[in-house]
Amino acid sequence: MKGIILAGGKGTRLSPCTRITNKHLLPVYNKPMIYYPLETLVSAGIEEILLVTGGNSAGDFLKLLRNGKEFGLKEIHYTYQEGAGGIAEALGLAEDFADEEKIVVILGDNIIEDNIEKYVEDFKKQEKGAKIFLKEIPDPERFGVAEIKDGKIIGIEEKPKHPKSNFITAGLYMYDNQVFDMIKKLEPSERGELEITDVNNFYINQDTATYEILKGFWSDAGKFESLFKASEFIKKRNKETL
Ligand code: DAU
Repeated sequence: MKGIILAGGKGTRLSPCTRITNKHLLPVYNKPMIYYPLETLVSAGIEEILLVTGGNSAGDFLKLLRNGKEFGLKEIHYTYQEGAGGIAEALGLAEDFADEEKIVVILGDNIIEDNIEKYVEDFKKQEKGAKIFLKEIPDPERFGVAEIKDGKIIGIEEKPKHPKSNFITAGLYMYDNQVFDMIKKLEPSERGELEITDVNNFYINQDTATYEILKGFWSDAGKFESLFKASEFIKKRNKETL
């Protein structure tokens, strides 16, 4: 399976830091944010990786990551998103790279403790569809929120005022090759973006979406508060592994 890291967008929630650099290059404790999603993919055995970036300092990713030797990769592929038209728009740029294969997609600001290797193996065996990852949190309003009935996700709402559960969608998704045709049919949401939640709802309505609940630490690092929380977690984890 091929891996795609989405690291475009404007990072406005971390302004003024993101006025001069890309959000995903900011440190989460002792490493640039982008290292963590990259490590999540590599430790799951993903060897072919595309990084989609955009916005400020896009060229700095190449300086930082080079060909990925430090991560045990032979090479990293790069592409550029003009503007910030949404997560699904960024993913659409990966169509040629994916070349009809199943893909695992991770958001560049997501810090995930779980090793996802088993889920990758499971998804390789899944006949078709998607796999979505959930995390139970106390304040789900600012994420995609899943509605679950009889052990099945029946819908996801993006940033709902009245969340139907405490299970949010983490920035980790697995898709079959229908995803690119699906993205071409998407219309921008009220916030003017092609939403990954619409992609996920397509699979849910098709009844081909499976899901897993992440067990370990999960956080995005896209706001000062969550960036701080993620840094604290990494600091603690580093101490424990010393
Ligand atoms: O972190 C999980 C959440 O991520 C999900 O629960 C939501 O359903 C999903 O919409 C997303 O929510 P955010 O509003 O937090 O997404 P944000 O705009 O912060 O973008 C997250 C990452 O996606 C960002 O670090 C880089 C990538 N991205 C985003 C945009 C808007 C792109 O590559 N291109 C883009 O145009």
